[in-house]
Amino acid sequence: MAVQESWSPALLHAIHDVADDVRLFEFVPEDGALPYRVGSHLDVQVMVDGKPEVRSFSLVGDGSASTTYRIAVKNRADGHGGSRYLWSLEPGARLQTSAPKDMFALAYGSPEYLLIAGGIGITPLFGMALALARKGSRLRLLYAARQASQLAFEDELRASLGDRLQIFVGERGERIDPAHEIEGLADDAELYICGPLSLREDFQRAWAAAGRDASRLRFETFASSGRHPAEEFEVEVANHDLRLTVAADQSLLQALIDNGVDDVLYDCEHGECGLCSVKVLQCDGEIDHRDVFYSERQHQELGGQRICTCVSRVVNGSLVIDTSQQLVDTGHFAEG
Ligand code: FES
Repeated sequence: MAVQESWSPALLHAIHDVADDVRLFEFVPEDGALPYRVGSHLDVQVMVDGKPEVRSFSLVGDGSASTTYRIAVKNRADGHGGSRYLWSLEPGARLQTSAPKDMFALAYGSPEYLLIAGGIGITPLFGMALALARKGSRLRLLYAARQASQLAFEDELRASLGDRLQIFVGERGERIDPAHEIEGLADDAELYICGPLSLREDFQRAWAAAGRDASRLRFETFASSGRHPAEEFEVEVANHDLRLTVAADQSLLQALIDNGVDDVLYDCEHGECGLCSVKVLQCDGEIDHRDVFYSERQHQELGGQRICTCVSRVVNGSLVIDTSQQLVDTGHFAEG
């Protein structure tokens, strides 16, 4: 049961390849583009296996007034089909898009900023870096990719940031050292990170080890990013007396919906709001928690009793859940 969203038609105006596997899509909303803050994202309706689904993409821009919305989409062969759908489109296509949503806000006024991008995680940080540079803020952007050909927007970033942009290419043996990068930052510096789960966790550990305030490390993550590759798994929904299979390219939430389970609330569909969290009665494998609604500590305290169905998965086993026990009994875990 999706939380209601309002949609507006938009024309796909232009497509540009900006890296080996990253394509920039430019939409003109029929009702006009709304101003947005850097770090905001857009929800886009996509078609997967003939059915409408929703995907969220960071808006690529520095927040200046514009008549278009730009999103950059990595072509994920192992994804759930949303990127494949977008990559199949030609200019002139019409889609439904939401208004911009500001869930990864940039707080101005800090004495220093460290921005960390891993792969397609550059999309929200691109605008932040340009906006901070324009304001004369002290900043560095560290941008990591496996291959140089996977770096998007490098020229634009270099033109604005100069040597405040540092590139790390995995195939050249270049790695970001979180402790080294954090050392020497101003006391009230802020860190913004978007990239794979492992990169975020490395920085969170180093940030905590340096005794820095957790509220000054802000992050956005990818719904598809987990500790293990996605694989098929079996689920028993005890309160519906139902067994189902979650395909490797499908979310647990989608499998529930496809099988007529309509009592699971959901909204963000990328592991942030916690609405889709359900009770785990039994798991004989390992839950690959991919949400950011629960902290690492909360996941440990919960001992595998909850799973965010929109993003989290099971590896090497199966799951028994009760979808009637949702967020209402997890409220005490809400953290500031
Ligand atoms: S729908 Fe928001 S965390 Fe799953």
